[in-house]
Amino acid sequence: MDKFVIEGGKPLKGEIRVSGSKNATLPILAATLLTDEPCEIKNVPKLRDTTTMLKLLKSLGKNVEVSKDKIMITANGTLNHVADYDLVSTMRGSFCVLGPLLAKLGKAKVSMPGGCIIGVRPVDLHMKGILALGTKTTMEGGYVNAVAPKLKGAHIYLGGVFGSSVLATANVMMAAVLAHGQTVIESAACEPEIEDLGNFLSEMGAKIEGHGTPRIVINGVRRLEGVSYRMSPDRIEAGTFIIMAAATRSHMTIRDIHLNQLSALVDKLNQVGVVIEKDKDSIHVKPGRNLKPVSMTTYPHPGFPTDLQAQYAALMSLVPGVTVITDKVFPDRFMHIPELNRMGAQIRREGGVAIIEGVKQLYGAPVMASDLRASAALVIAGLAAKGRTDIHRIYHLERGYEDLDKKLVGLGAKVWRERE
Ligand code: EPZ
Repeated sequence: MDKFVIEGGKPLKGEIRVSGSKNATLPILAATLLTDEPCEIKNVPKLRDTTTMLKLLKSLGKNVEVSKDKIMITANGTLNHVADYDLVSTMRGSFCVLGPLLAKLGKAKVSMPGGCIIGVRPVDLHMKGILALGTKTTMEGGYVNAVAPKLKGAHIYLGGVFGSSVLATANVMMAAVLAHGQTVIESAACEPEIEDLGNFLSEMGAKIEGHGTPRIVINGVRRLEGVSYRMSPDRIEAGTFIIMAAATRSHMTIRDIHLNQLSALVDKLNQVGVVIEKDKDSIHVKPGRNLKPVSMTTYPHPGFPTDLQAQYAALMSLVPGVTVITDKVFPDRFMHIPELNRMGAQIRREGGVAIIEGVKQLYGAPVMASDLRASAALVIAGLAAKGRTDIHRIYHLERGYEDLDKKLVGLGAKVWRERE
């Protein structure tokens, strides 16, 4: 197992490129199960999670060829309907093979999902959606056993206690595209990753409208075709870099970024005093003077993303004054707090709220990565802190940030890997 070592405390400088979107790639790879024709996917980030998804596709009977700039997925005989525990239990994104397997084979046996430890993560909305389409399900040895000889379109309200669900929306969309008749999903997730999935399905020949809005209308078709598709940039990686520039008081150019997907972050950072200038498909971040503490609450898109909450906390821990952070999507997603406090941050948690008293300086320390975005927060803190930070268990980072150490070295950071 590797750890990251960071000698922090100096500003970064230069240009950094955003890789393809992890959370858009995972359901799109699952959607290739909906056709027997070849699919070519470009700009797929090389990450532990995308590799796991490709392994899952192979285990389900697809042929996967990875080359430098694209991935080819082709048929390899008949599909298998069992999504194995070893693959699904390590990554929640893999649960979205359920919808396409049901649509294509009329049956699916998928292990209950795993993923980052960021609180309770039920699957009731996924179940509600596929049951409404005419599926019968049973639980069997940790697997969801789902059977639907004929999926039928339905009117489905998919809102839950914490709002919409991204992967439940994806699962229901992928089941509905081959169902008989019309499906309407109300309170659908509006995240850009759902828009991407809808675009991909449309190019395959699906009849789908409203993806990216709370009401998606799908008219089932008989078959779908193979396509060539390029993944859009990862908005969470992009947001992480913007926050990193602000926290390390750096001048940074970030390439391949869709800033309109990050309006809530940009709005907050403008209030904080960070200057962000737009230039075609790149942006320039300037540190700004006298940053102000600005409280923040996460919400489903277009609200402030929960996936940037930990990174924002790292930044605010370096802005004198009091900031209150509330996570309305994952109210227990605060594993980064004790680790940031080890570095001199002053953060206390009261239920679903983190209260930060900003300090002038963080100091390097040995810290433990607990989940993907908490790890990104520790990298930001380590780059801003004086002295050496050792981040243990960086396999979490490798799930979602492609070549992060190399990218940071390109900005002049002193970061390297060591074997534990
Ligand atoms: C996706 O997870 C992302 N994962 C997460 O990214 C992200 O944090 C999350 O959406 C929210 O934006 C992938 O796309 C692979 P949800 P997902 O279902 O779809 C509750 C990262 O760091 N809920 O939208 O699993 C749930 O508990 C990760 O890249 C139910 O109540 O999240 C949460 O409170 C981690 N019932 C809220 O909805 C359900 O059936 C939103 O979760 C499903 C979810």
